[in-house]
Amino acid sequence: NYYAILMAGGVGSRFWPVSTTDFPKQFHDMLGTGETLIQKTFARLSQIIPKENILILTNESYNDIVLEQLPSVKQEQIILEPAMRNTAPCILYASLKIEKKNPNAVVLVAPSDHWIEDEMQFISNIQHSFDFCESQDNLMTLGILPTFPNTGYGYIEYDKLDSRPVKKVIQFREKPDYATARQFIQSRNFLWNAGIFIWSIKSILNAFQIFQPEMYQHFLRGYEAYNTDEEKTFIAENYPLAENISIDYAILEKAQNVFVMSATFDWNDLGTWGSLYDKLPKDINNNAVVNANVFLENASHNIIRTEGKKLVVIDGLNDFIVVDKEHVLLIYPKSKEQDIKKIVAKLK
Ligand code: GDD
Ligand code: MG
Repeated sequence: NYYAILMAGGVGSRFWPVSTTDFPKQFHDMLGTGETLIQKTFARLSQIIPKENILILTNESYNDIVLEQLPSVKQEQIILEPAMRNTAPCILYASLKIEKKNPNAVVLVAPSDHWIEDEMQFISNIQHSFDFCESQDNLMTLGILPTFPNTGYGYIEYDKLDSRPVKKVIQFREKPDYATARQFIQSRNFLWNAGIFIWSIKSILNAFQIFQPEMYQHFLRGYEAYNTDEEKTFIAENYPLAENISIDYAILEKAQNVFVMSATFDWNDLGTWGSLYDKLPKDINNNAVVNANVFLENASHNIIRTEGKKLVVIDGLNDFIVVDKEHVLLIYPKSKEQDIKKIVAKLK
């Protein structure tokens, strides 16, 4: 009864110029290990979920990339979105398709582009969560011990006195402002949302029915067509009309039956060049070098990545991102990594 919904439709624009709309970060070997992020994630999930029950949710335009990178995946396992509408519509659509096949399914919803090192711990946390959600109407999320007031994450408040491994959530707050995030961190009973969710198909559909009734009815109209030849026409016409909203705002902030388990594995959402830098091996001067042939002097704390065999010579550069890719060479201070997204928008 175990299923996975693997979310692979984001564009990862802060990893430009490596990550682009045509070929986003989940399909790149960001860590220089020989495997792309989605390949790593698929391999991790298949240790606990039957391969044929792992569904990949992505934009139509990435279908061929998925087939090429995950050769054991069949076309019917790839759920294609004709438009980008964030995570709530795609999770609802996929959930209705799963329900039609197996109404007793228990589902793991996971991003395809995160870094998780300790696979054994990951698997044991997921197994624990499956057990917790299988027969109860619970929405579960994995929480990460926060280290600084990151405003790009969701925050989860739990009862300080609750010492059980799975705790009842008092409130879920998606992307608070900086002052609020600081206050949350100081309170010491908040975790970051890792964006990894576990629930039964019944529970999540129930939650959509209550908190997003319009969206629920919208996708329910196609129920007859799902998993048949008629599905594509229905989705082409109706998917783009769905509201653009993430599962965090649509459901988790509103539901009362949310539970959190504090993850026992190391996690990094690989959201920026800096977070990637943290996870890469470094030389004695703390330079992280991926796929590059380098000659460095007076250079420290840089992240350097090229494609091909070009020799990169650097002298007198610290704390920079240096990325060489076909038609773009990026030389950018690490401290301004969040602005890369804006640069990409300006260049368009
Ligand atoms: N299929 C599909 N379609 N996937 C999508 C879409 C879409 O339209 N939009 C985003 N995704 C995928 C991304 O590729 C990523 O794997 C995942 O869904 C989450 O989307 P992000 O855009 O990366 O979300 P976020 O980083 O702003 O916030 C979420 O993740 C944080 C942790 O990394 C939230 O869940 C936060 O609460 C959480 O802290
Ligand atoms: Mg993210």
